[in-house]
Amino acid sequence: MEITSVQGDITEQSVDAVVNAANSSLLGGGGVDGAIHRKGGPQILAACRELRASHYGKGLPTGQAVATTAGRLPAQWVIHTVGPVYAAQDPGRADLLASCYRESLRVADELGARTVAFPAVSTGVYGWPTRDAARIALRTVLEGARARESGEPASRLVEVRFVLFGAEAFEVFESVRRELSQ
Ligand code: APR
Repeated sequence: MEITSVQGDITEQSVDAVVNAANSSLLGGGGVDGAIHRKGGPQILAACRELRASHYGKGLPTGQAVATTAGRLPAQWVIHTVGPVYAAQDPGRADLLASCYRESLRVADELGARTVAFPAVSTGVYGWPTRDAARIALRTVLEGARARESGEPASRLVEVRFVLFGAEAFEVFESVRRELSQ
């Protein structure tokens, strides 16, 4: 499983699954969420509404992930995950951010996805410092890659792509990737 990073717009990535930085309502918002619903079209929201009416009456809990159609996006699925809001005095939330990546990869495996694109979850509206979020994201995905190399869990994933909206975020992710590969 290759881990890559690009600077760009996640709604333009031709991958099997695009991960959305959603909120618990699953009913849309700004940032990545807004872009995905805007570009993906109403089918995504309709599918989210069905999820709310069936399995997630109280909304999707933080750290969990669930898939819907990708509508008009150049992808097959959107995997919605809810990041934690940053709170400097509550370091335990880092586990919830790691869970977003772990659970999104688990859902991707369930779908049989081969390529997955992630945004920098929680680093926008939810205020998580980019470098710390990048460390958590990359460590979690690297752990997942090692586990899948040994066949547990069974996975068809060949690429996990981090899609960073701005040059600064891209540079931070690249710098953390170098730091972790030493
Ligand atoms: N492609 C890739 N990355 C993007 C895009 C895009 N089109 N748009 C924004 N980003 C980046 C932001 O610059 C930020 O680095 O995604 C990162 C996550 O930012 P948010 O989208 O604000 O997500 P988050 O911080 O997890 O907050 C989630 O914001 O949009 C609402 O409904 C959403 O309530 C939820 C909250």
